[in-house]
Amino acid sequence: MKVGFVGAGKLAQALTKGLVKAELAPPERILCSCPRSDVYLLEQMRKLGCRTTSNNSHVASDSRIIILAVKPPVIPKVLKDIAEHITPQHLVISVAMGITTRHIEKALPPKSRVIRVMPNTPALVREGASVFSCGSNTLEEDSTTAHRIFTSVGICEQIEENLLDAVTGLSGSGPAYMYMAIEALADGAVKMGIRRELAIKLAAQTLLGAAKMVLETGKHPGALKDDVCSPAGTSIQAVHELEKNGFRSALISAVEAATQRSKETGGLF
Ligand SMILES: NC(=O)c1ccc[n+]([C@@H]2O[C@H](COP(=O)([O-])OP(=O)(O)OC[C@H]3O[C@@H](n4cnc5c(N)ncnc54)[C@H](OP(=O)(O)O)[C@@H]3O)[C@@H](O)[C@H]2O)c1
Repeated sequence: MKVGFVGAGKLAQALTKGLVKAELAPPERILCSCPRSDVYLLEQMRKLGCRTTSNNSHVASDSRIIILAVKPPVIPKVLKDIAEHITPQHLVISVAMGITTRHIEKALPPKSRVIRVMPNTPALVREGASVFSCGSNTLEEDSTTAHRIFTSVGICEQIEENLLDAVTGLSGSGPAYMYMAIEALADGAVKMGIRRELAIKLAAQTLLGAAKMVLETGKHPGALKDDVCSPAGTSIQAVHELEKNGFRSALISAVEAATQRSKETGGLF
């Protein structure tokens, strides 16, 4: 496939690496634009073997699949740059948080095919969790295209657009909660005498391992927790402490608060 990126930042680079590695697009079929002065970012894209331009509209005339990988406040300007080149043959994929497909469609010619994606930062290490929603003019093949692109950097699911704020509260912001969990677990281990570097490594691997158990066994996380908790054992003692301190409730509230914030932010654009 031939893909164009508007924006050359972290996500554009991660997706480029994913597309090349998954052999979905050779680098020479990827064009990336960034009209700003930061030549370093375009240099990074060229190092990956991609073509680059400082003109956003070139991306629209070169590629049928266009990924808008810029920050939300830049989206209106970018849509203006590309609008006159967009045809019903194009698929426009936006990763900008909070910008609805309706908003994007309104800024583009009638019948424009638009998909909105909420990725997350582990896409940078190809362990992302991306969720997408289709606009009102997409074709059946567009879901498949979005799925193939974002599966190159992790897992990818489709959802109704009104739930994308909740996705932001879970997988979008979720890495932050898990980094805090790793840091806190490591603090506990340091308190108990383990050196910091090893403590962080063990905590991170524990989260990774637990996540893999959930994804690969298909077992309910509660059942997996029960498997670890032997009668009168160490784990159930710790689980009781977590319950007393509102661990589960804190995470539920975190997802709710981030969802709410995502809804508010979306209204700003
Ligand atoms: N990183 C993630 O994993 C992740 C997760 C979820 C959602 N997202 C969303 O993905 C989007 C990109 O995120 P990111 O992390 O890649 O951001 P980033 O690293 O800041 O990259 C943004 C890119 O847009 C460029 N840009 C600025 N103005 C532009 C313009 N007028 N035309 C074309 N390009 C322009 C920037 O160039 P300059 O640096 O020169 O300004 C930069 O290359 C954001 O909307 C973000 O909310 C990212």
